[in-house]
Amino acid sequence: MLENPNIAEALRILIEKYLKTPRHSNGSILGSMTTYPHRLAIYSYLLFIHTNSSDPVIFKEIGVMEGELIRDLNRFYGNKCSMQCGLTTSGGTESNILALLTALKSKSSGDRVVLAPDTIHVSVDKACDILGCRLVKIPTQNLPVDPSILEDYVKKYKPFAIIVTAGTTERGLIDPIKEVGELAEQYNIYLHVDAAYGGLIIPFLYKHGLLNDDVRFYTGVSSISIDFHKNGLTPIPSGILLFSDEKYVDTICYPAKYTLHGEYCGLLGTRPGASIAAMWSMWRFLGIDYYEKLALKMFNLSRYTYRRLLELNDLLVYEPILPIIVFRHRKIPYNILLEKLLNKGYYLYKAPSLRGLRIVIMPHVEKRHIDKFIQTLETIL
Ligand SMILES: Cc1ncc(COP(=O)(O)O)c(C=O)c1O
Repeated sequence: MLENPNIAEALRILIEKYLKTPRHSNGSILGSMTTYPHRLAIYSYLLFIHTNSSDPVIFKEIGVMEGELIRDLNRFYGNKCSMQCGLTTSGGTESNILALLTALKSKSSGDRVVLAPDTIHVSVDKACDILGCRLVKIPTQNLPVDPSILEDYVKKYKPFAIIVTAGTTERGLIDPIKEVGELAEQYNIYLHVDAAYGGLIIPFLYKHGLLNDDVRFYTGVSSISIDFHKNGLTPIPSGILLFSDEKYVDTICYPAKYTLHGEYCGLLGTRPGASIAAMWSMWRFLGIDYYEKLALKMFNLSRYTYRRLLELNDLLVYEPILPIIVFRHRKIPYNILLEKLLNKGYYLYKAPSLRGLRIVIMPHVEKRHIDKFIQTLETIL
């Protein structure tokens, strides 16, 4: 590489910018679904930073890791399908776009209608916009979708795809996947489950009897998406899209004759192999036990946060289902409260459908962060 005398200056400026960037470790980032990656994930990422996972001929080990990861995750979510039943993505948005593209290519009928509860993530609106589909949203009043109402909508709108969520963005709701799967099977509709946020929490909380619903490949489920860059402690971008059947992957692979491998699968061309190395090593070496402990820690801390918020005057607090707590003040509009918290250096997100603010207990959040936050909130109120 060419020597460049400006590197030292570039580093100086970069460090200046880094020091102005909020860090997760001080507990000020309480609303975003991001976290600081695990050191094993960072090291794995850096080792394979030069790799392109769309080229499993040159970067063979990355191809092997991707296959093993997909196979292991499919088993974890109760799918017997082989190593080929899925692919890595840049995150929940790309997974939703790809799932819908797959649905379109395998089940589409004339009207291109997609059905979803109104609690779905905005990336589904985006996916429908890109793919020219009509998205019909079922009003839910921020509750899991009612399967009998969903069936009425199915009869009326004849969708080719249904999308439900395991861990909704604003409130952490889990739609009834098993029952919706039965409907999808009965009416021959593609069912995608968006578990971008909840996928690495729900199975563990369910196992411990803390939830009534699980996320699995129940009959009728065609695909499930999970994000490792949310609760899997890997660097951004790290998403996974799993399919119930190998035939679905084939619908989103395109010939790329000029390459050694000969085809590109998914939305991107060049894809980050480093993300695969990070997800693979976390799943393989820290694994299920680690994620289980983490899910329980986040859940317990969300219960603690809920109790602490309930102690404050004039707050309406929604009981957490997953480690997400929404609250609002009875007199102060949530946008104003958000602004006041921002001025104190706290980054919360909004839950507009509940006119409240959202705290997400991500892996980096500790009890001492919550205690300090409650103190600040008390002062503001
Ligand atoms: C349920 C759900 N799906 C999809 C996404 C989009 O994920 P990403 O930001 O990784 O594209 C999010 C993001 O918060 C989400 O909560």
